[in-house]
Amino acid sequence: MTGEAKRSAPIPACEQPGEGVPTHVAIIMDGNGRWAAQRGLPRFEGHRRGVEAIRRAVRTAGDLGIRYLTVYSFSAENWRRPAQEVSDLMGLLKRFVRHDLADLHANNIRVRIIGEREGLSPDIRSILDEAEQLTRSNTGLTLVIAFNYGGRQEIVGAIRALARQVKAGALDPEAIDLETVEAGLDTHGIPDPDLLIRTSGEQRISNFLTWQTAYSEFVFVPAFWPDFDDAIFRAAIEEYNRRDRRFGGLTARAG
Ligand code: IPE
Ligand code: IPE
Ligand code: MG
Repeated sequence: MTGEAKRSAPIPACEQPGEGVPTHVAIIMDGNGRWAAQRGLPRFEGHRRGVEAIRRAVRTAGDLGIRYLTVYSFSAENWRRPAQEVSDLMGLLKRFVRHDLADLHANNIRVRIIGEREGLSPDIRSILDEAEQLTRSNTGLTLVIAFNYGGRQEIVGAIRALARQVKAGALDPEAIDLETVEAGLDTHGIPDPDLLIRTSGEQRISNFLTWQTAYSEFVFVPAFWPDFDDAIFRAAIEEYNRRDRRFGGLTARAG
């Protein structure tokens, strides 16, 4: 099946997004440090307030009928930060999952984690596993948490898996196509993001969903992540609805 055919295939009823609403929204939650600096607060305070913004975003996504919300919470490159900040971010993730998991589950939210688990401490790994296991049968919003995630690293992982299959004689190199590569990504089974939002005014991808954003619409908002709220989220979706997505083809609007 080609990518185009896949996109136009009917979405199962339980997966229908709300009207005028993207199926999958991905967010680069940036600007926690600057939010704190502006207020003379330690960066940690920005990260702590950032967790509250995640809760708000999950609520809005659910209210709007968005099917998938992916949030970039720790990049493969964020290990370059001072050890104290890295440890603060790990602690916040742990606390968020511990504190919010029951609520997420009660709200029929399915949690999926993308990113490299190797290299994470065993307690974090088990918390992430538990979140996925507990919520695996939920049918509401899927909350995808990108943690220790790098888009290029993810593609390398998929290539390695394919190379292993070829070496074992289980895969003909000529059979490798978009679908076989996609199947090896952490996001397998999740439709590509329709809309990618980045806060804080930076206009770059920072190694987020490198493969999956090939045809995503990008909306950059000036607000720092801790200030992200329902109104900003809805305004980004309105902006998305004004866009004319063509996927390389032509649409009525393109004339
Ligand atoms: C986003 O805020 C959170 C993470 C990257 C984990 P930052 O910490 O990058 O904040 P700024 O960009 O320095 O303001
Ligand atoms: C991207 O933000 C990573 C996350 C939001 C988790 P960064 O703040 O790390 O990105 P750069 O370094 O400014 O590109
Ligand atoms: Mg940043």
